[in-house]
Amino acid sequence: MKEQLAKIRAEALSAFESAMDAAGLDALRIKYLGKKGELTAVLKQMGKLTAEERPAMGQLANDVRAALEQAVGTAARKLEEAALERRLQTETVDVTMPGAAPRQGHRHPMYIALDQIKEIFIGMGFEVLDGPEIELAELNFDRLNAEEGHPSRDWSDTFYFDADSRVMLRSQTSPMQVRAMDSRRPPIRIIAPGRVFRKDEVDATHSPMFHQVEGMVIDKGVTMADLKGTLSLVMEKLYGEGTVTRFRPHHFPFTEPSCEMDVQCHKCGGVGCPTCKGEGWIEILGAGMIHPRVLEMAGIDPEVYSGWAFGMGLERLAMRQFKIADLRLIFENDIRFLEQF
Ligand code: DAH
Repeated sequence: MKEQLAKIRAEALSAFESAMDAAGLDALRIKYLGKKGELTAVLKQMGKLTAEERPAMGQLANDVRAALEQAVGTAARKLEEAALERRLQTETVDVTMPGAAPRQGHRHPMYIALDQIKEIFIGMGFEVLDGPEIELAELNFDRLNAEEGHPSRDWSDTFYFDADSRVMLRSQTSPMQVRAMDSRRPPIRIIAPGRVFRKDEVDATHSPMFHQVEGMVIDKGVTMADLKGTLSLVMEKLYGEGTVTRFRPHHFPFTEPSCEMDVQCHKCGGVGCPTCKGEGWIEILGAGMIHPRVLEMAGIDPEVYSGWAFGMGLERLAMRQFKIADLRLIFENDIRFLEQF
């Protein structure tokens, strides 16, 4: 039996070492160490030994098993290393080959315009606020002095969520004025860009969803001169030094007096051309001095404080800046369109 064990040991060790691959090695492992393997076969004969012979032979058999197991492990590692080496040789990467460039995204022209506006106002000490698109009618209308019965509150103009018209998709960014007044005390200087919603049919100049930028200043001694001065300066920063502005009387429920601001057409200098549709002027925004009742409803004393506010359409601004003829292009997000800016 001793000879048998020695023979198995010698044979197995040399067989393991000469195995060509993992599968071959595994077959050899089963041949020698498996349940029906050669070593097991020898061990089964242990019963025939005398009681004195058994311990020594048992020890020897265990030693052989341990040696074989270790040799299988070593051989397996060697084969793995060799396989890795071979892969490294055959799969070398040519680092000088040009890579596949990832496709880069592109900033949207409307957000390019918005970032410019933000930068201008931040430079003048304004805070940029973000607010909910789902708004209370109370903030969108009542607190802005547009009482029950105001035409803009009509179901044909506004998206409501409930039958009693309490919750709605905001129709303007102006409720952000109320939110700002409710959450801070004067002096207040904010702008609030965001989406607004109205029941408009889609065409080249209309969309049921568009963007506005709201602005508001409240402090002691604020006058219409501040409104004109600030907004004129903003237009010069946007459209170049010497840009001429014009303020026309208008009406908004939450401002008194109210106005609309035009800039003189930068294309024709006010003579009239296709860009300004022959008008010589381009309408930019609505503005005005905050109505004393709006201040009062926010708990701000209109005898002590005054303020001005404005709201402008962002798509229109971007369309003018980038000479985009159709509003729908802004929302379609066709990469061929976006990449032009
Ligand atoms: N919210 C008005 C609109 O959607 C625009 C506007 C006008 C905003 C005058 C103002 C303002 O803050 O003072 O037509």
